[in-house]
Amino acid sequence: MCGIVGAIAERNVVEILLEGLRRLEYRGYDSAGVALLNNDGAYNRVRRTGKVQELASAINDQNGVGNVGIAHTRWATHGGVTENNAHPHVSKDRISVVHNGIIENYQDLRTELKAQGYSIDTDTDTETIAHTVHSLLPSTGSLLAAVQGSVKKFHGAYGTVVMDREDPSRLIVARSGSPLVIGLGIGENFIASDQMALLPVTRRFIYLEEGDVAEITRRSVTIYNAAGEQVERDVVESTVSHDAGDKGGYRHYMLKEIYEQPTVVRNALQGRLADNGVVAGIFGEGAEALLANVQHVQIIACGTSYHAGMTARYWLEQYANVSCNVEIASEFRYRKSVVHPNSLLVTISQSGETADTLAALRLAKELGYMSSLTVCNVESSSLVRESDMAFMTRAGAEIGVASTKAFTTQLTAFLMLTLALGEHNGMTGEDKQTIIDGLHTLPSKIEETLSLAKSIEDLAEEFSDKHHSLFLGRGEQYPIAMEGALKLKEISYIHAEAYASGELKHGPLALIDDEMPVIVVAPNNELLEKLKSNVEEVRARGGIMYVFADSNAQFSSDETMRVVAVPHCNDAIAPIVYTLPLQLLSYFVALIKGTDVDQPRNLAKSVTVE
Ligand code: G6P
Repeated sequence: MCGIVGAIAERNVVEILLEGLRRLEYRGYDSAGVALLNNDGAYNRVRRTGKVQELASAINDQNGVGNVGIAHTRWATHGGVTENNAHPHVSKDRISVVHNGIIENYQDLRTELKAQGYSIDTDTDTETIAHTVHSLLPSTGSLLAAVQGSVKKFHGAYGTVVMDREDPSRLIVARSGSPLVIGLGIGENFIASDQMALLPVTRRFIYLEEGDVAEITRRSVTIYNAAGEQVERDVVESTVSHDAGDKGGYRHYMLKEIYEQPTVVRNALQGRLADNGVVAGIFGEGAEALLANVQHVQIIACGTSYHAGMTARYWLEQYANVSCNVEIASEFRYRKSVVHPNSLLVTISQSGETADTLAALRLAKELGYMSSLTVCNVESSSLVRESDMAFMTRAGAEIGVASTKAFTTQLTAFLMLTLALGEHNGMTGEDKQTIIDGLHTLPSKIEETLSLAKSIEDLAEEFSDKHHSLFLGRGEQYPIAMEGALKLKEISYIHAEAYASGELKHGPLALIDDEMPVIVVAPNNELLEKLKSNVEEVRARGGIMYVFADSNAQFSSDETMRVVAVPHCNDAIAPIVYTLPLQLLSYFVALIKGTDVDQPRNLAKSVTVE
């Protein structure tokens, strides 16, 4: 959510900053800006509403150059989407600041700053960072000390980079609650909110820790912890591929990511699944003994990751005999909850930086869970660093705001966790074999299912003029219906609701007419006959249905029902397989509607603020 890039070099850094912003644009894209400073003291700030391309053209028109610079792509929290509210924000023509996060006490700070003679010119909380740093410069005597003094006054979350127009030899960065990474070059250094931004210029990174403040010059990086002590942080060599951010010939990142699923699911299984179960040690050192004692699992997540958790609950209870609760992180963190004995806390997150999920993990640590595990896609993320155990989903960089491959790899991870926990809780041999066989066939089943794209594209034509839709599923397909509805609303802006189909007659039936498409996921499982009755209830009320059904489920198309036959698969992997047609449906509907598939309005990829 919002992207930050900074650079200090001998060369002109404009292209480095712009390329970094382009690579981060998926995180926030309503406005963008840069502040550039030359060694000779020339300063230039350019900001634009809209995409990074607007900013790039403006900089080009002005022949913008700089040896030092800070840049930002914004997802508005405080203050509307205007050029004036776009970062960088400036104090007294001297201090420039870019910031991710929210300074919660900005109103109090404003009052204080106004009393000191600062005029407040924007609607943002970020502006108060610039003025606070400026106000402390005279008494502290250095930019570093001014930033260290300032952060003591901030409540809330920040990843921030500060530049002093009078000193082109350094940038100061500070992190609390919003990630920042320093990229190391030779005679030049870089900063970003995500390493992805800097992959074209370096592979060597230092991840700042909570409370760190760092001074970055061309040749040095000096880091201080929250107590003000100088500290060393590890330098990590990144293995992420340089072109992880390319579309690879696909029209959209989302489509590329949908088609990557056979490969990334294969990667997720690689070296972890044997013929007789999961390989020992895949959840980390000492995890085995710990998992043997788990009697309850509490899952916490947001958005698509929450739907993965809801699906996992069915598996953990049905196959592994382990009781499980699933809760949205923003709910969990603000209510009193009861911790079951021997309870394992599991967070799920693509980014590993979602503010609510991270806050829930921190809270859970105080509540007495026996341990914490995160199922996550980003190795360097806060959730991975702060959890006792981490299980990486290996989905690779996901750029499309609507999550696809992250979800299916999360589900793959949970089938492996189900096997690991089931081992100690009386899982039957038959159930165990179903999961193992299912996982072994999963990559090829996904490939087969993706070949339905053409028939789903045809179907999508009928949706594009609709305003509402209903998704139905039963059992572990209910969360898949929820995920299908989320995908459709995220990228096509069609209102979509999901219901467990047994709930139909308790309300939603009242909505059914021929203007309300009803999408049904119908694998051939023990709930199929019940689902067929629900389908008849819709048909009797004149509803139009789109049924994704197992090829053996004996549904046939007629004037009220369009059936797409999904390749037959075993029960364990059906939720993963049935996710694919729903992803493709949303994608094609959005394509026909002409929405911005990869960067849908009002959303952001990684929600690092509350
Ligand atoms: C945002 C994204 C969703 C994602 C959710 C949770 O809303 O747009 O795609 O599911 O955050 O993100 P996480 O990174 O924690 O999985």
